[in-house]
Amino acid sequence: MNNVGIVGLGHYLPKRRLTNLDLEKMVKTSDEWITTRTGIKERRIAEKGEKNSDMAVKAAREAIKNARLDPERLELIIVATISPDSSFPSLACLVQKAIHARKAAAFDVSAACSGFLYALTTAKQFIQTGLYKNALVIASEKITSYVDWNDRNTCILFGDGAGACVLAPVRKDRGILSEYLHAQGHFGDLMMVVAGEREPLDQKTKTILLPHIAMQGQELFRVAVHSMAEAVEIAVHKAGLKLSDIDCVVPHQANDRIITAVARQLEIPKDKIFVNIDKYGNMSAASIAVALYEAVKEKRIQKGDIVALVTFGAGLVSAANVVRW
Ligand code: ACO
Repeated sequence: MNNVGIVGLGHYLPKRRLTNLDLEKMVKTSDEWITTRTGIKERRIAEKGEKNSDMAVKAAREAIKNARLDPERLELIIVATISPDSSFPSLACLVQKAIHARKAAAFDVSAACSGFLYALTTAKQFIQTGLYKNALVIASEKITSYVDWNDRNTCILFGDGAGACVLAPVRKDRGILSEYLHAQGHFGDLMMVVAGEREPLDQKTKTILLPHIAMQGQELFRVAVHSMAEAVEIAVHKAGLKLSDIDCVVPHQANDRIITAVARQLEIPKDKIFVNIDKYGNMSAASIAVALYEAVKEKRIQKGDIVALVTFGAGLVSAANVVRW
């Protein structure tokens, strides 16, 4: 069985910034409320006409370049997303076409904010068993297209973006050491996409019928803390390690208070937890992928470090991976 590791990372963030001050002009909220309750200061919004696939392709190109991989030799593409351009073709097929990865199999994974880790673990199996030699895993979301810009409970939380990585066999003592995937469908109604009247961004005079996010924030908060802490504990145990062995935790960025509560529950110092929610908000599946990219770039993760990736999302689905970098 091959050991499988991340050999190249990429990301893409739309240029348009929506700050808390911008939101103050749209709904009854304040920078102070959003900052203290969530840790978010601003988020990125896809430009008009910018599709999710455009973002996914840009993140993919950077990851492939960093992995020094010829797209012609790519064997598998998995995209984690809950906001594809359309139901079909899959985002993975759109990426395959754009990057000329003619030999690659391609499909999407739908696991909300846990999508990146679900896709990572899925791709890992193909390489571990020797079926494929490499894989490109992308997490890309234009999640703000599901936001009701009239609903202050949810519109402050989300942003758009994409992250990507290339997986390949690595040395025996490196790579993805363990994985944990979990689902609690009975919590599905805590966060759903519902059809109803909502106001699109930039068209304040017109309310139209569109699918949008409906969320029970407080209950979700409680379940998220428990699910993420449990996922880390299980994945660390499966890797044969202790919580104190972890050098860096890269958690899903849904709310800084959730991240703090998870750190407290696991008794992991907050300075070992990578947080970038202030800049991007919750980018669903893309959050961890972008955070991992930035943590490596900022040298918060160094060669040989033990890294825990952990997430929860609508479904409710949670997941964790332990990686030796
Ligand atoms: N600005 C000002 N006031 C607000 C806002 C806002 N943007 N939103 C809600 N309020 C008000 C509420 O109406 C309420 O007022 P009331 O007391 O008069 O009724 C008050 O603030 C407190 O509201 P709570 O819901 O209790 O606020 P809470 O501290 O729970 O924070 C939040 C809300 C930020 C949504 C929090 O519950 C949370 O982060 N939950 C988890 C959300 C999450 O993780 N979602 C995504 C997960 S799944 C995925 O990632 C795809």
